[in-house]
Amino acid sequence: MKVCVIGGAGYIGSHAVLELVQDGHEVVVIDNLSTGIREAVDENARFYWGDITDESGLDEIFKKETDTHPFDAVMHFAAKIVVFESVSQPLEYYHNNVEGVRIMLKTMVRHGVKNVIFSSTAAVYGDVKKDICTEEDECIPINPYGETKLASERMIRWVTQAYEMNYCIFRYFNVAGAHESLKIGLKRDNLTHIIPITVQTALKLRESMTIFGDDYPTEDGTCIRDYIHVADLAWAHVLGMKYIVSQQKSATINLGSSAGFSVKEVIDEVSRHLPVRYSIGPRRPGDPAKLIASSTKARELLGWVPKRTLKDIIRTDLEFRKKHETR
Ligand code: UFG
Repeated sequence: MKVCVIGGAGYIGSHAVLELVQDGHEVVVIDNLSTGIREAVDENARFYWGDITDESGLDEIFKKETDTHPFDAVMHFAAKIVVFESVSQPLEYYHNNVEGVRIMLKTMVRHGVKNVIFSSTAAVYGDVKKDICTEEDECIPINPYGETKLASERMIRWVTQAYEMNYCIFRYFNVAGAHESLKIGLKRDNLTHIIPITVQTALKLRESMTIFGDDYPTEDGTCIRDYIHVADLAWAHVLGMKYIVSQQKSATINLGSSAGFSVKEVIDEVSRHLPVRYSIGPRRPGDPAKLIASSTKARELLGWVPKRTLKDIIRTDLEFRKKHETR
């Protein structure tokens, strides 16, 4: 298939590009390189600099590409994703994440592209009171990031219904780890995610780290999350695309492992490799106590099961950072 990957130079996008190329698809990447890295894009993909919020720029790229052969699908990864940043910069989040999706859909409609694969998030569920989240659970986001993703999900459902298109919406849980080749991984300034921060602390790239709250209603008092390896997540996108194109159906699917680990357990696992200095601090705004995915739907609809564990996630992130961040 011919696939347009918007945000394909970013952490998750570049892994999806790799999986698509290896599965034999023709891949076109559009990225504004705001957080993405040009070198992370596989050399077999065609790259365009472009911004999802620039309607005429996007239209030009689509025009040029669809002149030869139309896109079978568009994958969307071009979002701002830092939860606490969204609390202080909601306007930027609505502009990039919601207006960007509107422009992408409008461009797809104009050029007759019928299939969209969209990166959403577990943050749409909000402060979950149950142990495991299913796709049917009520969505009550508790931060602007989750709100922008839920608004985009709803827009995608209405637009695909109106123009007879198909969508596959993936709600990611906590994505981490690096590709086994160690060529691509999560690389950016001001990292905020627990696994890279813990690994950087273990590698002495940071003096110490803080656990944001140990008074949550969990066994050890720290927040519980469902961690998923980025390569497993990327492969799910290829399966999701094949599913909606072949079945002409749409779906909203959680991508997680159905297992939860606390912040302390993450630190313990990294400490098996190298010691980690940490202290306990106050809670971070917007953090729910526990988020675990039901992954039954991904297994049943797509035949997808994550192959890698928390150990693999931490090992690959550690090796990636050793190679790229230390001398
Ligand atoms: N944490 C710390 N110290 C740190 C960093 C994080 O204690 O230095 C804690 C957080 O408070 C939280 C847990 O580690 O309890 C996980 O935090 P992350 O920032 O790694 O991830 P989040 O769960 O906040 O968010 C991630 C993605 C979102 C997604 C969400 C869904 O960034 O895009 O998972 O679960 F929506």
